[in-house]
Amino acid sequence: MSLNNKTIVVTGCCSGIGADFAKLARLQGARVIGIDRNDPTLSVDGFVKADLGDPKSIDTAVQQLPARVDALANIAGVPGTAPADLVGRVNYLGLRHLTHRVLDRMGEGGSVVNISSILGAEWPLRLELHRELAATRSFDEGAQWLRDHPVPQATCYQYFKEALIVWTHTQSQAVFLQRGVRMNCVAPGPVFTPILGDFVSMLGEERVQKDAHRMKRPAFSDEVAPVVAFLCDDASRWVSGINLPVDGGLASTYV
Ligand SMILES: NC(=O)c1ccc[n+]([C@@H]2O[C@H](COP(=O)([O-])OP(=O)(O)OC[C@H]3O[C@@H](n4cnc5c(N)ncnc54)[C@H](O)[C@@H]3O)[C@@H](O)[C@H]2O)c1
Repeated sequence: MSLNNKTIVVTGCCSGIGADFAKLARLQGARVIGIDRNDPTLSVDGFVKADLGDPKSIDTAVQQLPARVDALANIAGVPGTAPADLVGRVNYLGLRHLTHRVLDRMGEGGSVVNISSILGAEWPLRLELHRELAATRSFDEGAQWLRDHPVPQATCYQYFKEALIVWTHTQSQAVFLQRGVRMNCVAPGPVFTPILGDFVSMLGEERVQKDAHRMKRPAFSDEVAPVVAFLCDDASRWVSGINLPVDGGLASTYV
């Protein structure tokens, strides 16, 4: 496997999973262009500072990207301890907006990888709602739909990760057939990154304890990064429209 000579845009490259993926992709020979709201703390080949919850900031950022992009790794995200509106804008609406814009720069063999979460696993329970939201055609239309269908703060993180999985599924085949670009999700379980503590506050001690005995430990972010790399690589050229768990087997214990 090698990402040699690929141009890869990595959101959230300044911390956690995004930083580890950016490092790995560069080691494999990719040219990495990072996007983050914070200044980079690692070597990248290009960097654009942007607020991925704001469509205008995203449009300005896209103008600074190379004309040809081989892969987009949508890794930036905020935890559910942030206000629900912000979680919706960064984890879903902004991700979608950026992806639509970057798709115009991608050709046959391209790949989009979205970081979902094991916490998005209950998407089938709300499939029709997620389909409706997925059918909205722009950031503003999606934001209006969300004002008409408010999402509770307590479960907003789960809701938008579910919505992301459904959006990826509903988009992927058309994008694959029309452009030859694959779209997939990676669904991590708990990962040792700066926002792990937010997940404990968000889910509550009882739920965390309930899950604790089901897994060996949280992942390290360099255990998630190679899976993102695989989905960017040509080795996965026949993998499209999936939500791949990277959770040390945690999801399987709920069956
Ligand atoms: N850590 C976990 O346990 C875990 C589990 C499942 C899924 N995830 C998902 O993995 C992804 C990466 O999270 P992480 O754990 O590496 O977190 P992290 O906080 O270490 O990294 C998130 C990055 O996103 C950037 N970011 C946040 N809001 C932004 C905005 N508005 N504009 C631009 N950049 C912004 C941050 O600056 C940061 O660099 C997220 O989508 C998260 O939901 C994390």
